[in-house]
Amino acid sequence: MKLAIFIVLFTAYIGYSVVVYTKGTKSDINFSKTEQAQINRGKLLFQQYNCTSCHQLYGLGGYLGPELTTAYSDKNRGETYMRAFLKNGGNRMPDFHLQDKDIDALISFLKYVDETAVTYKKK
Ligand code: HEC
Repeated sequence: MKLAIFIVLFTAYIGYSVVVYTKGTKSDINFSKTEQAQINRGKLLFQQYNCTSCHQLYGLGGYLGPELTTAYSDKNRGETYMRAFLKNGGNRMPDFHLQDKDIDALISFLKYVDETAVTYKKK
């Protein structure tokens, strides 16, 4: 009996994992080598400045700032809006005195996150 329950649960877990890992992210997006390098640099900066302490990506992170997963494609936010915050900070968002090339990298990273977050977006 225990074995039967184990097999049922294990099969369900495998099935669930396959769905999550194949449908959760889009894998047919292609980036050039330069874009990929830029995205990786942006990701590193995102970690270095600990942006996650205030912002969520894919639902994980702090709640002081707005979630950033879909900020890039959000018609009320988008690239120019995000750049303004990265350049000057906000009322509560700190000004990190980022160089323009670092802002470019962070934007590339956030654009990438937005593009890959297919199931996260509300239809
Ligand atoms: C101390 C908390 C904090 C940290 C750390 C922080 N932010 Fe913010 N951020 C905020 C808050 C709060 C806002 C909303 C505007 C405001 O109140 O200043 C914001 C706004 C933004 C926005 C505008 C998007 C929107 O929906 O309003 C972007 C983009 C952004 N932050 C990116 C970043 C990035 C990238 C980093 C890391 C380099 C970062 N933030 C670090 C708190 C933070």
